[in-house]
Amino acid sequence: MTGLQERPAVTAITGYDTSAVPFRVSDELLIPAERYYDQAFFEKEKSVWMHTWQHGCHVTEIPNPGDFTEYKVLDQSVMLIRQTDGTVKGFYNACRHRGTALASGTGTYRGGQVVCPFHGWRWNLNGTNSYVYTKQGFRPDTVEQAEVNLPEVQVGVRWGWVWINFDPDAIPFEENWRGVEEALDNQGFEKMHVTWWHQIEFAANWKVAQEAFFEAYHVMQTHPEIALFQRDEDFNAASMANYADYKPQGHTWADPSIIQHIGEGSAEDAKPAAADAKTPADFYYANITTMWEGAQSMTSARQAEIADEIYETLPHEVFFDEFYSRVYADAAERNIPLPPQNPKMTNHWTAFPNFTGVISLGCSLTYRSRPHPTDPNRCIYDFWGLEIPPEGTAVTRPQIAAEDAPTWDDLWFVQQDASNIERMQTGVQTNGHKFQRVAPELEKMIVNWHQVLDQYLAKYSS
Ligand code: FES
Ligand SMILES: [Fe+2]
Repeated sequence: MTGLQERPAVTAITGYDTSAVPFRVSDELLIPAERYYDQAFFEKEKSVWMHTWQHGCHVTEIPNPGDFTEYKVLDQSVMLIRQTDGTVKGFYNACRHRGTALASGTGTYRGGQVVCPFHGWRWNLNGTNSYVYTKQGFRPDTVEQAEVNLPEVQVGVRWGWVWINFDPDAIPFEENWRGVEEALDNQGFEKMHVTWWHQIEFAANWKVAQEAFFEAYHVMQTHPEIALFQRDEDFNAASMANYADYKPQGHTWADPSIIQHIGEGSAEDAKPAAADAKTPADFYYANITTMWEGAQSMTSARQAEIADEIYETLPHEVFFDEFYSRVYADAAERNIPLPPQNPKMTNHWTAFPNFTGVISLGCSLTYRSRPHPTDPNRCIYDFWGLEIPPEGTAVTRPQIAAEDAPTWDDLWFVQQDASNIERMQTGVQTNGHKFQRVAPELEKMIVNWHQVLDQYLAKYSS
């Protein structure tokens, strides 16, 4: 296991004076409640979005040249367009004439031309203007080529996701991820397809919503089906709190987990409550079965079947060896390029400011939380199931709540988490609640995240 102290150095956002930040985190273990509902805080927080790398879409939303999708955050709209050379460009989604949005939702620009639906101005996929209707009707300097080309936002592609940044002077894309890549590369992310996608508007601040997925401490109460392994008196904090404890641009990830590497020497972390006589195999089996039945992600139908076969028929001591060898053999047979096991993989990560992924063996459940454009007490939340399909599988452009997706009601495991979100907002806003009281190790991701937010606020919002 990689020790936290061995992690590579990163360029962190640090050293800014936060004394003028309203409701700043002055005690890192007490997060002021106003940060989750105060309108003035919300207004300041908007500046963060104009400077951070953030998730725009999955690459399969725009698989072919000319494909576009719209990304919205707060009052901003961006169109992401697949170029003829396979790269992706991002543009402010506004016609250079009178501002009409050029993209709405997802689609394809036929003939390599973006066409404004209002008066028919046109652009090449790379944003250069190709046609201004009745150009002679305009004062020449207002329609010079440079004036009518589309202004770009920065774009980067990594791990199968397209990321954007509004700020041309932002930290370079590669630098933004320094330190994270060792945990995320080689997980096969770029080979995953979206298996389902749900988008929910919650009556809760976007941070309340995402923090519901920022720790494993809630598992005992919220997910009784997988809480076999920790009773209060047997609790081993290290097994679920092994997150990076520094602030590389606010991203966080877990060290190799008890789940993914339980068969590779970290079983000590997963030592079950002796009184319950549960084995690591019991835990893993409960986990994988629950994930498949209640989340249809973080594992696959076939992996769940294989776990079933072994758990029912073989001694627990051989469960992991058998499981991994059968899963890899099955994948090879079906031409699924599962990533090899790698001790540096993570099973849980967050990208500042709003992206969270849970990962296991070529599968993922991934989340994105975005603020409502005007209301601090509402947010837009995306849930994606992802899986590596057999090589050569045709890309299906993902759609929210597609017909073949599990329904929201089917995803009862995800709902166990979701059910806490609006209740948390209700309580956080009451006058009797002044602080979120967080545990330094168990909720380290939350601590880290708010400290970085204050750095951004100090840097950009004054
Ligand atoms: S607003 Fe786009 S062409 Fe007029
Ligand atoms: Fe959960």
